[in-house]
Amino acid sequence: MLKISLMDQSDLEEAFKIEEQTNPSPWSKENFFSSFDVGHKSLVCKTGKEIVGFIIFSVVKKESHLLNIAVLKEWQKRGAGSLLMKSMIGQSKAMGAKKVLLEVRSKNNNAIIFYKKFNFIQDAVRVDYYTGKNPDDAVLMSLDI
Ligand SMILES: CC(C)(COP(=O)(O)OP(=O)(O)OC[C@H]1O[C@@H](n2cnc3c(N)ncnc32)[C@H](O)[C@@H]1OP(=O)(O)O)[C@@H](O)C(=O)NCCC(=O)NCCS
Repeated sequence: MLKISLMDQSDLEEAFKIEEQTNPSPWSKENFFSSFDVGHKSLVCKTGKEIVGFIIFSVVKKESHLLNIAVLKEWQKRGAGSLLMKSMIGQSKAMGAKKVLLEVRSKNNNAIIFYKKFNFIQDAVRVDYYTGKNPDDAVLMSLDI
């Protein structure tokens, strides 16, 4: 059974492996670990002791920023991402947020379908936002909560 819990420091290595496996341009290990240290909120989805996915977000006043979400390839399309998203929305509301904001690569169709399923709407496109090895535009999306 899949369960959501707060990410613990001891979960970081395993969660970072998921980031490396799933993100075409993964956060550096330093960024990943420091995100935890600066107090971004992070949740993990586990089956038993195994982490199958994580979500990282930051609530500033009335806005919750979804910074990262990933689910192990073999666990995708089995509800883990939805559980993480629902928990994140619940926690963001509890902290006073009225909106969730995110940026997604325009070529990341699966993620865009996933966000649309949660009724996120597209607000804008930032052309050439992502540079480096995998250049892409960023789609800015939001959801009133
Ligand atoms: C986006 C992601 C987190 C979704 O997690 P997930 O556990 O697969 O999501 P769920 O199983 O809860 O899927 C919920 C819905 O999202 C959509 N969806 C998810 N994966 C999809 C895919 N591969 N193709 C099409 N639709 C998909 C479907 O509408 C699905 O509903 P359905 O199962 O009733 O069809 C996951 O695909 C992932 O980790 N991707 C790689 C990392 C990434 O791109 N992160 C986003 C960065 S902005």
